[in-house]
Amino acid sequence: MPPLSATMSKNPDLEIYICGACRPKNADADSPLRPGRDLAADLAEKLENQGLAQRFSLKMMQCMSVCSRPATCAFISPGKFTFTIGDLDPKTAADDIITFAKFYAESPDGIPAWRDRPEQIRKGTISRTPSFSATHQRITDPKQDETAE
Ligand code: FES
Repeated sequence: MPPLSATMSKNPDLEIYICGACRPKNADADSPLRPGRDLAADLAEKLENQGLAQRFSLKMMQCMSVCSRPATCAFISPGKFTFTIGDLDPKTAADDIITFAKFYAESPDGIPAWRDRPEQIRKGTISRTPSFSATHQRITDPKQDETAE
């Protein structure tokens, strides 16, 4: 895997965070295996090879509090919803992450159409979280919520 500085762009379309601390499901507490690191290494190489490393800034993080669902990643961009994804196969997920990142970058709000989400992304989605002070048709004032009693 290239050093982190080589994969970090100063003006990316989005950031992709991968947890480098998760152990595999059901692994011993002292297991040296880290599926997120394997996934990050594969993804970094593919981003470089496809000329995408400047658009999609890859970073590793130590724990995103979804430890039971390795490998995990998050897609972040200013003004867009943040997606957190788990259960990614470190051997195969890099291509799905890149496909999703392209649609995420093109979407105005960070919510790509369901049909555009690769299978591992659809099945592994843990959350989509609005950005600070976001406005969006899915965000309502609870005082004016027609479903509230
Ligand atoms: S150790 Fe990876 S999310 Fe907690």
